[in-house]
Amino acid sequence: MAKTKSTTKAKTGKQKLAAAAPSAPNIDIGITQGDRKKIADGLSRFQADAFTLYLKTHNFHWNVTGSMFNSLHTMFETQYTEQWAALDDVAERIRALGFNAPGSYREFAALTSIAEEPGLTDSADWREMVRQLVVANEAVCRTAREVLDVAAKGDDAPTEDLMTQRLQTHEKYAWMLRSLLQ
Ligand SMILES: [Fe+2]
Repeated sequence: MAKTKSTTKAKTGKQKLAAAAPSAPNIDIGITQGDRKKIADGLSRFQADAFTLYLKTHNFHWNVTGSMFNSLHTMFETQYTEQWAALDDVAERIRALGFNAPGSYREFAALTSIAEEPGLTDSADWREMVRQLVVANEAVCRTAREVLDVAAKGDDAPTEDLMTQRLQTHEKYAWMLRSLLQ
């Protein structure tokens, strides 16, 4: 008899606790679930390209050799440092849209449009490094433009703003890098 009474009491306490801590409401920011998914998928592909370019730029900062060492070592550092900070903004935008941000080499390798060339650093000339960075920056730009289209259709101004900023930066990097080869 006493046992039954105490169980009932405990249950009532638990129910009270549940009522005091409501679960998270559904996301309702004025963009449909379908559009949020399309935008987040696009941003994930952008992130994979941006991360692959970041890693390539850092790789070349470490491995560049030759008469241009000093200026390229410094230039690559400036670029990868800026790119690293931007990766965080993109990941957090994907989270704000309600989806998980890619964050593993396997996901990035599957999603990126930028080719990796293992072994390149063993013998690469600085010109080949710069050429690859031009191509990779331009690939990032093309993906950003695709995401801009999807974001505009979904009326997602924050993503449009973020992609516009990244476009400005990567188009500038592509120009600066290309200038070294002209
Ligand atoms: Fe360094």
